[in-house]
Amino acid sequence: MPAISTKNLTKKFDRVAAVNNLNLSIEKGEIFGFLGPNGAGKSTTIRMLCGILEPTSGEGQVGGFDINRESEQIKKIIGYMSQSFGLYQDLTVDENLKFYSRLYIPEKKLAAQRIETVVELLQLGPYRKRLAAKLSGGWRQRLALACAVVHRPQIIFLDEPTAGIDPVSRRILWDFLYELAHGGTTLFITTHYMEEAERCNQIGFIWKGDLVACDTPEGVKRSLVDEHILSLKCADLNHAYKFLRTHELIKDVNLYGDEIHLVVANAREAIPLLRAALDSEQLSVDSLKQIQPSIEDVFVALSKKSSNG
Ligand SMILES: Nc1ncnc2c1ncn2[C@@H]1O[C@H](COP(=O)(O)OP(=O)(O)OP(=O)(O)O)[C@@H](O)[C@H]1O
Ligand SMILES: [Mg+2]
Repeated sequence: MPAISTKNLTKKFDRVAAVNNLNLSIEKGEIFGFLGPNGAGKSTTIRMLCGILEPTSGEGQVGGFDINRESEQIKKIIGYMSQSFGLYQDLTVDENLKFYSRLYIPEKKLAAQRIETVVELLQLGPYRKRLAAKLSGGWRQRLALACAVVHRPQIIFLDEPTAGIDPVSRRILWDFLYELAHGGTTLFITTHYMEEAERCNQIGFIWKGDLVACDTPEGVKRSLVDEHILSLKCADLNHAYKFLRTHELIKDVNLYGDEIHLVVANAREAIPLLRAALDSEQLSVDSLKQIQPSIEDVFVALSKKSSNG
């Protein structure tokens, strides 16, 4: 039995489907990455799975419990870090942890031990006596994560746990998540960071309520079969970008840092023709080659395909 599954799960707000006939299956110990643009339906899905929001139609089960009928049992076995955290601003780090651990762990001594473990793993030690309101954004996030996992739930929902935090802290959080997953915890996590998507066992991409891709990171990358991606490096990126945007061979152009990714139908045919075209524009090319699509390339392509019909 999967740890989390849904069948035609749907939530409508004013007749508009925020989540539309969603079908998911997530195994125990899996890290499932849920991606999609702002307003796609990620948080709405999580809220239904956590038993906080009633679906309009469809089914789902979490840890063997039915989300429509057994939401109280679900709340006991999950951890949930919402996008707005739900911390008590007027309590200290320690007091927040105590509050959340005692909600689930009646035994004081065991609760205290669990707090020590998360404080150590998330390196919250120096901040224990500080009010949550006075933590910086990134540290508040670590505390929210600590509160969501302190009772060691089987299944954890994390809604953008790493939004806006520095790379070192992000690594610490991910090490911690891996450790939980190795111990058999199932993680359902939303993120806008593509390198985090790479770290998941399975990723789903939601677009205006529809799940438009769901596979391993490798599988997602292989799914882009009818398009090739070229990487272009050249001195005048802006000029090249403007020029290529209207070129007949180019289906799409996206800037990625110091390079441009070009979507073409056939890389082998396009490369010499584009070289010649760039040359006649007096654009000197440092390199132009076919690359394996990144997850971001695939999602940009999927988003554009979905929005074109
Ligand atoms: N309580 C609500 N009432 C009405 N509409 C809502 C409500 N909650 C969410 N929506 C709408 O449902 C859609 C999906 O919202 P949701 O919060 O699930 O998106 P998201 O994928 O989490 O986006 P983000 O990346 O910005 O967090 C949006 O159009 C949003 O405006
Ligand atoms: Mg959200």
